Amino acid sequence: MALLPILTAPDPRLKQKAAPVTTVDADVRRLMDDMLDTMYAAPGIGLAAPQVGVSKRVLVMDVADKGAPPHPYRMVNPEIIWVSDDDMKAEEGCLSVPQHYADVVRPAEVTVRWLDETGAEREERFSGLASVCVQHEMDHLDGILFLDHLSALKRNMILRKLTKAKRSDPGAAA
Ligand code: NI
Repeated sequence: MALLPILTAPDPRLKQKAAPVTTVDADVRRLMDDMLDTMYAAPGIGLAAPQVGVSKRVLVMDVADKGAPPHPYRMVNPEIIWVSDDDMKAEEGCLSVPQHYADVVRPAEVTVRWLDETGAEREERFSGLASVCVQHEMDHLDGILFLDHLSALKRNMILRKLTKAKRSDPGAAA
């Protein structure tokens, strides 16, 4: 088990578009295992590779209820292949945007296709919290934070606070 340092905004590495994975090999499997350890320890319900400084199209998530058995997803090169017409508004937070939460509007349901840890193709329709989470994590692969879905006014206010927090505690800027 290895815990990886999580980047926090503003950081140029969080704004980059991540590269597709060519082969689901032992390195990618270890990355996903380490990301899951890091996510559970944070604690969080989703984590994308760019958040730990790895510019690859890889994400993990687990939205199982507290007390329920873990239900981890390991997704390589995920793609949204269908979105619902109806939208849903939910409050989002992000391990890379600590202490800040805001409502974001997204499609209520999505169908995602990805490669699992064995390299096999998987497909699933997500709704509710899982839908919000998978869309949020997939945004990270394109350098998009939930802040980018807010008004410029609100986004800049949060970014200013994060910058100030980093200056007063450089150790937290990992
Ligand atoms: Ni996030």
